[in-house]
Parts: sequence; C-alpha cells; structure tokens
Amino acid sequence: VRYGEEEFERPAGGETHQTARDGRPPLTTQQGVVVADNQNTLGAGARGPALLEDFPFREKLFHFDHERIPERVVHARGFGAHGYFETYESLSDVTRADLFQEAGRRTPAFVRFSTVAGNKGSTDLARDVRGFAVKFYTREGNWDLVGNNIPVFFIQDAIKFPDIIHAAKEAPDRGFPQAQTAHDNFWDLVSLLPESTHMLLWIMSDRAIPRSFRFMEGFGVHTFRLIDAQGRSTFVKFHWKPKQGLQSVLWNEALKISGADPDFHRRDLWDAITSGDFPEWELGLQLFDDEFADRFAFDVLDPTKLIPEEEVPIRTVGRLVLDRVVDNFFAETEQVAFCTQNVVPGIDFTDDPLLQGRNFSYLDTQLKRLGSPNFTSLPINAPKCPVAHFQQDGHMAMANPTSRANYEPNSWGPGVGGPREDPVRGFHSAPAAQVGEKRRLRPDSFADHYSQARQFFISQTPVEQRHIIDAFVFELSKCERDDIRLRMLGGLRHVHDDLARGVADGLGVEQLPEPVEAARRPITDLPP
Ligand code: HEM
Repeated sequence: VRYGEEEFERPAGGETHQTARDGRPPLTTQQGVVVADNQNTLGAGARGPALLEDFPFREKLFHFDHERIPERVVHARGFGAHGYFETYESLSDVTRADLFQEAGRRTPAFVRFSTVAGNKGSTDLARDVRGFAVKFYTREGNWDLVGNNIPVFFIQDAIKFPDIIHAAKEAPDRGFPQAQTAHDNFWDLVSLLPESTHMLLWIMSDRAIPRSFRFMEGFGVHTFRLIDAQGRSTFVKFHWKPKQGLQSVLWNEALKISGADPDFHRRDLWDAITSGDFPEWELGLQLFDDEFADRFAFDVLDPTKLIPEEEVPIRTVGRLVLDRVVDNFFAETEQVAFCTQNVVPGIDFTDDPLLQGRNFSYLDTQLKRLGSPNFTSLPINAPKCPVAHFQQDGHMAMANPTSRANYEPNSWGPGVGGPREDPVRGFHSAPAAQVGEKRRLRPDSFADHYSQARQFFISQTPVEQRHIIDAFVFELSKCERDDIRLRMLGGLRHVHDDLARGVADGLGVEQLPEPVEAARRPITDLPP
C-alpha cells in the first residue's frame, strides 16, 4: 500500500448497510452522541413531514451549510506540502536568524504553491505567475518567505495592487474571462502602466507555464535585510533554485493539459512526494551593502527590477526538501496564512513601497478569510516554539493566558505574572535614518521601466524569444479593442524592435504605432 492510500473492503455478500462492527468506531454527533441511523431523517409516520427535533440531522446540515470560507482574494488556487529546510553553513557573519546559525540545522517548513489570478477551481496550467510561499517554523518564531516564481512584479507601489488584480481577474459585468491574460481589462491597464513592462516579458515567457511546481524557481522579489548579532545589516534578495531543473511546457501543451487534467500540477506534486521522490530547492542569497545599492544602476527598493547574478553572485546556503503531503487539504493548505510581516530576529524589511503595503494587506485579508484573530492557533499556523503573550479572547480563542495577569508591567511573581520583554533575544528593526517630506511622488530612481525588460528579451534564446512573441500575439489577438493592442505595441517599441515588429506581424498590424509615453507622468513635477 503506497503512502496516502488506504485498504478498502468490499461489502460481504452485497451487504450495503454498514454499522459499527469489527473495531470500527461508532459515528457520533459533534457533541459525541452516538448516531443510530445516518440514512433516514426523523419523520412523522413513514411518509410524513420531517420533525424539527431531529438534532443529528439538523446538526449535520447546519455544519455542511457552513463549510465554505472565502477563497483567497488572490492566489486562491494552491497546493501545499510539508518538509524541512537544512542550512549548509553558518550565516552568523550576516544574520542572527536562528535557522541559519549552524550547518546541518533542520527547520520544519510548509510550502504552498499557487496561481495568482484564477479562482479556487481554475486550471493549474493557466499562463500566470506562480506563488511560492514558504513558512519556516524556526525556534525563534515563524518566518514566512512569501515569494513568486518570477523575480519581479507588475507594480512598484502597493496602492496599485487592487487595480492590477481587478483587471487581471474576471470582468465585473460578465464574470469572465478567468485568466489574467486573453483579457481586454488586463491589457488595457498594463498598456497604461509602463512599470509593468518588465514583468509582462516574464509572464509572456515560458516561465509562466511551468511543467510543474517541482520545476520552478522561486524569488522573494523584494530586497530584504539580514541583521547580525551586532545589529549590522546587509541587503538580501532570496532565490530558490529547483534541484530538479527548470522546465516549462509549450503553450499548446498547456492548453491540452488544462483540458485533460486541470489538477496536473497538484497531482504531480502529490505523486512525487507519495512515491518518495522528494523535490528539493536550494536557497540562494544575493548579499550586498549600501555602497553597492548606491552605485547599482537601478533602485534596489524597486520591485520591478532584479539584481543580475553577474553583478551579485548567488551564495547557496541551504536546501528545502518537501517530503510529506498534507493530512487534510482544508485544515492545512486552505487555512495556512502566510504573511510578509512574519519575520524573525535577524531578518528585516526594507522601504520597498510594495513590501510595505503587503505587510498590511495579508493580516488584514486573513482576518476576513479565516474569520477570527485567533487563526494563529490553528496547528498549521502555530509556531513550534514557545508562545507567550497577553492577547486574549475573540472568536475561537484557544490559547488564552492561563494565569492571573493579562497585562504588563505587573507585580505578580514568576508563574503568575506572565512573560516579559527580552531586549537581548527579541526582534529589533535595523536602525535606519529617515528624513524627508511627506509626499506621494515616486523617486526618479524608479523611472526606467524598459532597460531590464530589454535585457530579459535579449537574454532569451531565439526559440524562447519566439515563444514570447507568440504569447503576446495570442493574448493580444483576444482583445476586442484595437486601441488597446496598438497601445501595447507602442509600449513594446521601448523594449526591442524585434519584439514589437514580431508581435505586430502576428497581429497583422503593418504600421507600428508611436512609442507610448515612457512614464505615466513627469515624476518630479510637483503640483503648483
Ligand atoms: C497572497 C496581497 C504582492 C506573493 C496574497 C493575498 C493577498 C495578497 C491579500 C491573500 C492572502 C491570504 O488570503 O492568505 C498582496 C499585495 C501585494 C502583493 C497587496 C502588493 C502590494 C505580492 C508579491 C508576491 C506575492 C510581489 C511575491 C513576491 C503572494 C503569494 C500568496 C499571496 C505567494 C499566496 C500565499 C498562499 O499560498 O497562501 N497576496 N500581494 N504577492 N501573495 Fe501577495
């Protein structure tokens, strides 16, 4: 019997009525009362009306009626697995984070892969970004590295996130299309947002149709900070490299797979893990200091840019192994709550405006999605280290303080007075000087939207370039409005002539339009 499969028995002699015999536990209500009949409601007479007093029936339907919770507002469709992270070497030179302190240390982890735009029941092979979210249950608290399989993002500022997601999901009037591509609203918005160009190149590339989760890279996208025991900080970009290699499917394969098996990716991961072929990824760090950040051609706080590996090589520091499927999809994969705000001592944020917005958004949405501020007590979300605080009550409180004091400071003795802050072991933010006027304008250092898009296109093989061009042609040919198509072509002219010309030819556009304005508005102009 393979892992995850159960033996099953045929009813003897065609018998279909099953009762608690042969060591089978009796069926009970939620109150623990043994149920005598799970086939028939209590009625008045053999053919008469149902009776309200039938509490096992009412409880069963009540619970069923409330099974659904809201799906995630993005990344609704996902698949999770358990595993561990193993550190190759001590990183105490750059961080005091517990999981990186000694070679060989293993930290339990839970990973959820996802698509972004589709609903919970959508197909795995959609052309889309893939989420790559990792929860590390470290000995000093949970650290969530909530990444994607593409190293950059569509937007620079979190204030645009609702717009890009609204435009990517189904149109509000007709409720279709589900996919973020093949969509007038999506192409309308991105053709008006030059900052999305770099990401568009990635999303039209083979990266957006991975062969399976096992063959994808992962990226933290933003620049983060590591902090050592002396409080010194280093900038860091996080990378996951699949030991299985990087593989994609072709677009026509993706379409066929979507039709034949919309669960292709989740089935692949389940099959690999349950047959003992545990997938692995290596964690790589790009580490750099302020001096590099100051001379780098782009702003390290701009999430639409990456840092080329030629400029800052990747230091491989550990591996992630997925070796256990979930016991229950809902309890684990659905109820897991990742949050960029979940960092541990030794890891910190930067001022990337997208990251700052994300830090607000995840907790906020999870209260809505999971329904109670106590979702951190669910086993999949609970830290595997001591937890002690004075937060209490609320719906489903499962871990209230148990002694007299529920406030501090207090003068109760040890054991009664509860926990105290610890400036030595506790989390400290990296010190950073802040000056400046309150303003809403973006810095000039965020203004170049095309150079890295061009570098990406040039770095592709001719076959991969063809795939990118074909993908643009396929997607834009689905737009009903010509002006959207032409505006997008006007944006692609900033990227590369071969790209713009190739897409125009595929769309049957002879005369290339003028390039669009390179930035949405003069970024340094202050209102009078
Ligand atoms: C999920 C917001 C950008 C990766 C989510 C969720 C929200 C959200 C509300 C649903 C969370 C839940 O219900 O548990 C935002 C905002 C962003 C942003 C406001 C920008 C301002 C990004 C970026 C990445 C990313 C740049 C990748 C680096 C993910 C992943 C998930 C997710 C992987 C799924 C987590 C899971 O599997 O449960 N995001 N997001 N998001 N986001 Fe973002």
